[in-house]
Amino acid sequence: MSDAIESILKETRVFEPPSAESVGAPRWLLGSMDEYRAMHRRSLEDPEGFWGEIARELHWFEPFDKVVEFNPPDAQWFLNGKTNICYNCADRQVESGHGDQPAIVWEAEPVGDGGPETRTLTYRDLQTQTARFANALKSLDVKKGDVVTIYMGMVPELAIACLACARIGAVHSVIFGGFSSQAIVDRVIDAKSKVIITCDGGWRRGTIVPLKENVDNACATLGEQGHAVDHVVVLERCENETSRHSRDRDWHEITQAASEDCPCESMDSEDMLFLLYTSGSTGKPKGIKHTTGGYMVHTYLTSKYVFNLVPDSDQIYWCTADVGWVTGHSYIIYGILPNRVPTVMYEGAPNHPGPDRFWDIVERHKVTQFYTAPTAIRAFMKWGEEHPGKHDLTSLQVLGTVGEPINPEAWMWYRKHIGRDKCPIVDTWWQTETGGHMLTPLPGVTPTKPGSCTLPFFGVDAAILDDQGNELPHGSGGLLGIRGPWPGMLRGIYGDRDRFIDTYWSRFSANDPRYPNPTSPSPYYLAGDGAKRDADGYFWIMGRIDDVINVSGHRLGTAEVESALVSHESVVEAAVVGMPHEIKGTGVAAFCTLDPDFNPDGHDAIESLKSTLRAHVGTEIGAIAKPDQIRFTDSLPKTRSGKIMRRLLRSIAAGEADVHQDTTTLEDYSVLAKLRESEEG
Ligand code: WT7
Repeated sequence: MSDAIESILKETRVFEPPSAESVGAPRWLLGSMDEYRAMHRRSLEDPEGFWGEIARELHWFEPFDKVVEFNPPDAQWFLNGKTNICYNCADRQVESGHGDQPAIVWEAEPVGDGGPETRTLTYRDLQTQTARFANALKSLDVKKGDVVTIYMGMVPELAIACLACARIGAVHSVIFGGFSSQAIVDRVIDAKSKVIITCDGGWRRGTIVPLKENVDNACATLGEQGHAVDHVVVLERCENETSRHSRDRDWHEITQAASEDCPCESMDSEDMLFLLYTSGSTGKPKGIKHTTGGYMVHTYLTSKYVFNLVPDSDQIYWCTADVGWVTGHSYIIYGILPNRVPTVMYEGAPNHPGPDRFWDIVERHKVTQFYTAPTAIRAFMKWGEEHPGKHDLTSLQVLGTVGEPINPEAWMWYRKHIGRDKCPIVDTWWQTETGGHMLTPLPGVTPTKPGSCTLPFFGVDAAILDDQGNELPHGSGGLLGIRGPWPGMLRGIYGDRDRFIDTYWSRFSANDPRYPNPTSPSPYYLAGDGAKRDADGYFWIMGRIDDVINVSGHRLGTAEVESALVSHESVVEAAVVGMPHEIKGTGVAAFCTLDPDFNPDGHDAIESLKSTLRAHVGTEIGAIAKPDQIRFTDSLPKTRSGKIMRRLLRSIAAGEADVHQDTTTLEDYSVLAKLRESEEG
């Protein structure tokens, strides 16, 4: 294992933090590295004191009587405290006299003659609109604890829908609008959800994404499987005609009929807030479960320090993610709104109508914090520096990245062409499971190195482990593990206790003499990432170590793509691996064994079957999972015990001339030769 994650990156550049003045920031919230170290030490030695004080900056209906209790793998935070995250996002700002300040600044994708449509919602708008929609949900019989599925485009109503659920204690499960109807089916069944909120369509790169149609198709399949969806709430966004069903409810109709009076439900700190499905190494997506109090405090504090949010200082923050991913949950909505700095929501694509759309938005709205993904930065690099060059980006104070390791070249480009060679870059490592940032620089304080997510955030105790679970000294690569609980950590996988323990907590526990009860889960949370710590203690993430690949910053279970391929009548067996890809970081390479009845004859037939299979994966999972490369093969390389040799396939997909790997366990050597010959596409 250790040589599988040997780091080859030799990066020696270090960038000292700039002064606040030089980037136009009102001030840096932290004064020095010593202050960071002292606060970090206290957060680990005295979590009660540290997190207790932070949590009290937010509003609680009833105080908690204990900060944390941890029986691995189960953590509880702010025990017996009663609060509501929607209250802390909206109502609290209104009550403290800030109701007229902008909360959400939304911009539509289509650009008309007068420029794009924009809408600003104040905290008071957010309060009244979530209250109304919350009452509308109640009128559909949605109760505390019910799971509401949300499948919408990036419109303000998406945030309102999430907050309205939180307001009444319903659990939301947001499904990314780029996923297919099959993805809706699986998630709705797993979550036992009876209500879906959607849009007639969503704007993306000038065309309409048929959201409602996908929901209708999902409902048909769900019906066949005996799962009735009671209500589909439809927000009209694109004047897109869709078929009508008796279960459909019009967003505006039910909202107008509802009263504005809907006090926030008093939620126990450990009541469920949302489920968010993420890929695992087996075919079935995992419903990651997050609860109220800990998640709220973690996202609030990370937003504040990592982005250096200072209310009343004309800051305007923009995270380009979709609310369908955890980044959007935590860093468009829940962490930002309680900090009282406006959050930008943009509906569409980065290159519509032109490749400078993002920079146009930054300039017009005078964005001060900008948070995006390495895959986007690589696309900007490819499109050319002249596009940001056309715009005034001097409002920017802090730049962030998330989703995958950022290659130093992209990091340097981001700093130079977007950050005027001075803005601090915060490379934030975290996961759907962690709820919020875990390893990250703090702007104005942490010296940064291109490609490193640097040091742990407050309350995070991270380590590099060998494959026996021993902590490794600085300088070595291994498994990234987190010791002890942190407030935003997942509270489980919905409905699957065993999988929760197996996936994250069990690797080192069985019969390990170091633990009091050798069968109990280990105190390390295992992220599934390989990482290295350098001599300064900085973390360098090296990518996933399980059968999960990270494409454009989004995790795909290779098993999911394989089962989508095999579900096509022509494919008997499939193996999917990651391969290097210029823009996406990692692309999807598929090796398929075909049913002899479908063996394509000739180049055109081969190409046409490949596009059919790509389209099929697009329908089954969504466009992000479409293979970049498909090869047909008579058989797949397997060990004697029948395991597909993925390492070998990875080398072949990467086009490595010499496959210098241990093939001693390979069952049939001729397979290897044939695979190398097989045509790539
Ligand atoms: C996986 C989590 C966290 C929101 C977006 C993705 C990779 C995430 C970084 C980073 C290197 C990163 C990891 C992680 N990842 N951020 N800054 N540097 N790798 O959420 O879908 O839950 O994926 O994304 O591999 O495990 P996710």
